[in-house]
Amino acid sequence: MACPVAGAASVELNPAVQPLNWLLGTWENDGPGEGSFPSIKPFHYTEKLYFSHVGQPVINFMFNAFHADSNKPLHRECGFIRMQPETNRVALIIAQNSGLVEIEEGELTGNQLNLQTQKLERISFAKEPHVQQICRVIQLRPDGKLEQTVSMATDKQPLTQHLHITYRRLS
Ligand code: HEM
Repeated sequence: MACPVAGAASVELNPAVQPLNWLLGTWENDGPGEGSFPSIKPFHYTEKLYFSHVGQPVINFMFNAFHADSNKPLHRECGFIRMQPETNRVALIIAQNSGLVEIEEGELTGNQLNLQTQKLERISFAKEPHVQQICRVIQLRPDGKLEQTVSMATDKQPLTQHLHITYRRLS
């Protein structure tokens, strides 16, 4: 399937986001992702990630997750990644299909992004429990695989891991 957020292949990556060039392309889970949280039944999922650019000082992204057995579409996120010039400070601007909009900020160290919620808003009729905080680590491993770990706090549970998944590059 063609990348739904495909950038212009002929356009050079903007130098402002050059340190994040290792993200670019399409990634697919390498084995099932593992989901858990104290209040839910552990589950497995698959996920495709798309990172692209159009020459702006921005990386565009889209994450689409599915139930590992039924292939039913589940969680979806999309947004933009920016870097503060002359620093290793990174910001993700994210919309989630659950009705959450979020700004995560953090630092890029080598090929590892460590991000935490800075701002979070939700639709007025968002399902409970309400997420209060998200911490996310995205890293390119020495074996070329991408790894993502997401922890969250809700109004009922303290910060606890929700997701762990490894991806292989498709393009
Ligand atoms: C940052 C991203 C995510 C956030 C903030 C988030 C948030 C949540 C919350 C608040 C719950 C309810 C927990 C509870 O009842 O105590 C939940 C449950 C769940 N999440 Fe996530 N989630 C995220 C990503 C994902 C992804 C990528 C998947 C992959 C399929 C997923 C699958 C599930 C499933 C299957 C449940 C249990 C059933 C349900 O409540 O729908 N989540 N998530």
